[in-house]
Amino acid sequence: MNTIKLDIRKSGVTVTDAMKAEALAANALLHSKQGAGNDFLGWVNLPTSISAADIEALNAQASKLKEKAEVIICIGIGGSYLGAKAVVEAMSNSFNLLRRDRKEPVIVFAGQNISEDYTCELLDAVKDYSIAAIVISKSGTTTEPAIAFRIVKAEIEKRYGKAEAAERIVAITDRARGALKTLATKEGYPTFVIPDDVGGRFSVLTPVGLLPLAAAGVDIAELVRGAQDMERATADGTAFDENPAAIYAAVRNALYKEGKKIEILASYEPKLQYIAEWWKQLYGESEGKDGKGIFPASVTLTADLHSMGQYIQQGERTLFETVISVGEPACKIVVEADDENLDGLNFMAGKRISEVNRMAELGVQLAHVDGGVPNIRIEIPAIGEYAVGALLYFFEKACGISGYILGVNPFDQPGVEAYKKNMFALLDKPGYEEESKAIKARL
Ligand code: PA5
Repeated sequence: MNTIKLDIRKSGVTVTDAMKAEALAANALLHSKQGAGNDFLGWVNLPTSISAADIEALNAQASKLKEKAEVIICIGIGGSYLGAKAVVEAMSNSFNLLRRDRKEPVIVFAGQNISEDYTCELLDAVKDYSIAAIVISKSGTTTEPAIAFRIVKAEIEKRYGKAEAAERIVAITDRARGALKTLATKEGYPTFVIPDDVGGRFSVLTPVGLLPLAAAGVDIAELVRGAQDMERATADGTAFDENPAAIYAAVRNALYKEGKKIEILASYEPKLQYIAEWWKQLYGESEGKDGKGIFPASVTLTADLHSMGQYIQQGERTLFETVISVGEPACKIVVEADDENLDGLNFMAGKRISEVNRMAELGVQLAHVDGGVPNIRIEIPAIGEYAVGALLYFFEKACGISGYILGVNPFDQPGVEAYKKNMFALLDKPGYEEESKAIKARL
């Protein structure tokens, strides 16, 4: 039985045979590697290619870092950041920082912005803690993480010396190319490889995600097992009705064709907020091109019902909503009866908070559907490594299928170069002299 239950009954979409055939053909194309972007399909069979020895090597490296550091600074951006951030948030106690009994190091992130204040506050915050770093960049040349790494590397070397820095810094990068690879080789950093055929946003199940997660205390073997089972459950040849990735991809494309241009990923568990951020990158970068693509947005409920709820209920009718629904919480808290009942909540006495949350979810679903917002529900039994691993692969597979149905190359991102060119020209990078003059004249 599949860990993920997909419920499309409130999407308003009637799945036709043509839609099924189109989704299955797209899935087959991913497996035959004959479609657009076929040199970046290493993620398709990635989970089942991960061996016990790979997991052991990652756990061994994570243990070394954990022994040395109370805080591990994880440096990367985009696909070299969001997967680890998403799963660390999902799998950790939300108040980890405040827990005196915390056993695992705190994982903090850098290099995902160019904020001087962020960098400064980070250095200040870690000054009384032992530190280590994991620096992640496939190209090895991305500006944001390169700046952060220069600063963190200097801090580590200042504190511990160059030799010890090589014990506290791990690089995750290309097998052979790029500035980070060159630096890692020169400095003798332990290095893990990002496979050539796995693009950034599909790399969470490579060392890019797995090493930081192992360092955070996440059971990466179980995460990978969940992804492996989902890889099998969505394999080529699986019937449409049995393949949740094909169904999700088909339904969201049908909604797009009906004018539903924005998909809101919603969840009632705040610790899934960064899963939504990761999903936004995955779908936004994969599908937003050639003047096409669903705009991926997200909300955390019920919080955002008090901010975005009005728009979702009654704003422009270009939205549909996909809810990640969690079956069972890890904790149990019951609303107690109160003799005075001044807040009028005694009608809830004896109910678990999760029951109230569930009724909110069901009530919101019907309200939004009544308001013209079609609903897809993705249900996972609980927030655990196995289910999250399955969810990650489910979204990746559905994204590949969906992109092919849409008729784009889901595995490139030519649009992200535009800002870099302008930024380098404005910063007078050597080689950009002409662009520099031209852009400054436009300011
Ligand atoms: O999905 C992608 O390819 C991008 O988001 C990259 O991951 C991001 O730009 C970081 O690139 P790199 O790992 O080369 O530093």
